[in-house]
Amino acid sequence: MALSQPGPSREGWSSRTAFILAAIGSAVGLGNLVRFPAEAGANGGGAFVLFYIGCVILIGLPVLLSETLIGRYGQAAAPESFRRVAEKSGKSPAWEFVASLGVLSAFLVLSFYCVLGGWVLYYIGIFVQDLFTTGVTGGAFADRSVTEVEAIFGAMISDGPMTVILNIAFLVITIAFVARGVSGGIEKVAVYLMPAFFVLLLGITIYGMFRGSMAETISYLFTFDASKLTGPVMLAAVGQAFFSLSLGVAGMVTYGAYVGRNVNLGVTSGVIATADTSVALIAGLCIFPIVFAAGLAPEGGLGLMFQTLPHAFQEIPAGSLIGLAFFVMVGFAALTSSVALMETPTAWVIDRFRFTRPIAATMVTLSAAILGTLCALSTGALSGFHPLGFLPMFEGMGMLDVLDTFTGKITMPVGALLTSIFIGWVANKRLVDSENGLGGGLHVFWRFLVCWLCPIALTAILIVGIFPSIL
Ligand code: PHE
Repeated sequence: MALSQPGPSREGWSSRTAFILAAIGSAVGLGNLVRFPAEAGANGGGAFVLFYIGCVILIGLPVLLSETLIGRYGQAAAPESFRRVAEKSGKSPAWEFVASLGVLSAFLVLSFYCVLGGWVLYYIGIFVQDLFTTGVTGGAFADRSVTEVEAIFGAMISDGPMTVILNIAFLVITIAFVARGVSGGIEKVAVYLMPAFFVLLLGITIYGMFRGSMAETISYLFTFDASKLTGPVMLAAVGQAFFSLSLGVAGMVTYGAYVGRNVNLGVTSGVIATADTSVALIAGLCIFPIVFAAGLAPEGGLGLMFQTLPHAFQEIPAGSLIGLAFFVMVGFAALTSSVALMETPTAWVIDRFRFTRPIAATMVTLSAAILGTLCALSTGALSGFHPLGFLPMFEGMGMLDVLDTFTGKITMPVGALLTSIFIGWVANKRLVDSENGLGGGLHVFWRFLVCWLCPIALTAILIVGIFPSIL
């Protein structure tokens, strides 16, 4: 059987490094900086964090390799790529529904992700303002008390018109890149900004090591207490691994379609997962010392990053300027992720309906703006609206939390589960083996993970996570 790639080659990444950086750009974002500390705090710290690291290595990594492999073989938008692999393997083209489910989740994530992106824009504005009031040399917010600085967050999320406008602004910035296509837009952002972001984050963490409660943080984040490892904690951890690595939403299939044959996907997946997980852990080490030193609750939720970091910037010299630089970088990290999130449904609309790229991206943006408006208002005017409140898993949640939970704890794990079954049991073994770039023992281990461990562990975790009472 000929296993060469079907169809003409698409517009691609300009180099291997560009692909790695763009994939890291997609992975590293608000999931690492905002969602990881929030989930770690909500799920009690150590047990969650260590289980999360285990999930990245044993489940996330093999699925990441599977997704990029399908994309590179298929050379098309995600559903089409799944179909090509299925057809080449003599299986039903209906398998493309796995990717269609992923495209839908990417769209749902995009809708609430840009609301958080809007929050970042707000903080950029706050720091610019502060630069003018308190000047460059002193700490940030010299004229405000610690409680006043913390209150900025609450005031922002309950300001409906503001959050709606900022959400739309973030979507508009995102579409500006997506509309220009892969190497024109997305790549430029990733190549320059990801390395700069890494350095700044590390700098602030090192500062935190000397100033904040580092010992308490380490014991909080890395002490394994097996009794805390409940079904919902395990599901939260595996969901966080997928959210952070951009898996189960067909995003890495979409990006994989732009990768050349010369790239070793096994090695590349390892690099992407290592970079992404390091950023999450560094973000934890950066944020929690300030949480403990300031006497804040680790269960602070999505506001944790926004409420803690300004504390650090209040203390350090040139805090306004460094704070501004930091939030600008966070904005860029979020942008490289929102671009990936928008690219996935956009590529699907282009392939399916043959619309031009700008038109397809506009359609996706308008739909995301409508759903995003409900999310933006859910922390204020619509906080009493609980769309799926009749289900225990979504009890008391507004639209933003519902979409976050629904994607992170249901559609992403299910998408990843189906992808591992597809690669492990459905796709032609020779086709898969010729693409994965793994040799010897590593290859055997990877096959074991995708064929057995991923499907079994994910099914079990989904069951005990969604129905904890059966344990
Ligand atoms: N991984 C991104 C983050 O951590 C979010 C994302 C999810 C991006 C899925 C693309 C696809 O912020």
